[in-house]
Amino acid sequence: TKKRTLLYEGKAKNLYNTDDETIVLAEYKDQATALNGKKKDVVVGKGALNNQITSLIFRELNRRGVQTHFIKQVSETEQLNTKVDIIPLEVVVRNYTAGSFSKRFGIEEGMKLSTPIVEFYYKNDALDDPFINDAHVKFLEIATDEEIDFLKKSALEIDTLLTAIFGQIDLKLIDFKLEFGRLPDGTIILADEVSPDTSRLWDAANNHVDKDVYRRDLGDLIPVYEKVLRGLQNEFEGE
Ligand code: C5P
Repeated sequence: TKKRTLLYEGKAKNLYNTDDETIVLAEYKDQATALNGKKKDVVVGKGALNNQITSLIFRELNRRGVQTHFIKQVSETEQLNTKVDIIPLEVVVRNYTAGSFSKRFGIEEGMKLSTPIVEFYYKNDALDDPFINDAHVKFLEIATDEEIDFLKKSALEIDTLLTAIFGQIDLKLIDFKLEFGRLPDGTIILADEVSPDTSRLWDAANNHVDKDVYRRDLGDLIPVYEKVLRGLQNEFEGE
């Protein structure tokens, strides 16, 4: 399966068509962005780390019965994915207060929520990905009632699995963002990535082991992401 034309250029990855029209190749890039692209830097090695981390996690999710777009990792920075129509929603799940949630409600970070909270953001760079509710999702004709229910239910199931996966390497899953896509027959499956770029992970001492290191200028991202990859490899590889 060879790389053909560029299908989509994103901030953290490029998607290419392959010689199979049902499969795309995702190439993870060495670019870090924050604040909807207003902060931007080349971080050498980040693409390879995120590709390997997300490949390992999607493989584990597949094993645990979640339908995802992940087919296989084909190089350090590339993976093959089933082609989907991305649903323009960022589906965020929160287990602890942090980030925009803490800001919005004026609550300190790291408070455990009594039950996980699912939020939708409208994926639209020009609008800065606004927070939206179910009625807005329907108004914008992004998804039907049944699909909204399915997205919330899937997000919570994936939360349980990811909490366990990261728990095995002593990382607390604070919150994370998912994206889903539709297959030609309308089936909705998990797409995009799950990595320290799209999740908040805290270690036992509540150190940030995720992109907040970059967002908040807390130090070098690479050793932090390497720690996540090594942990996952030690725990889940060679089974
Ligand atoms: O910024 P906020 O607190 O809303 O982020 C919640 C979670 O969603 C974090 O884990 C963050 O990394 C992720 N996120 C993302 N892409 C965005 C916004 C948030 O991956 N555009």
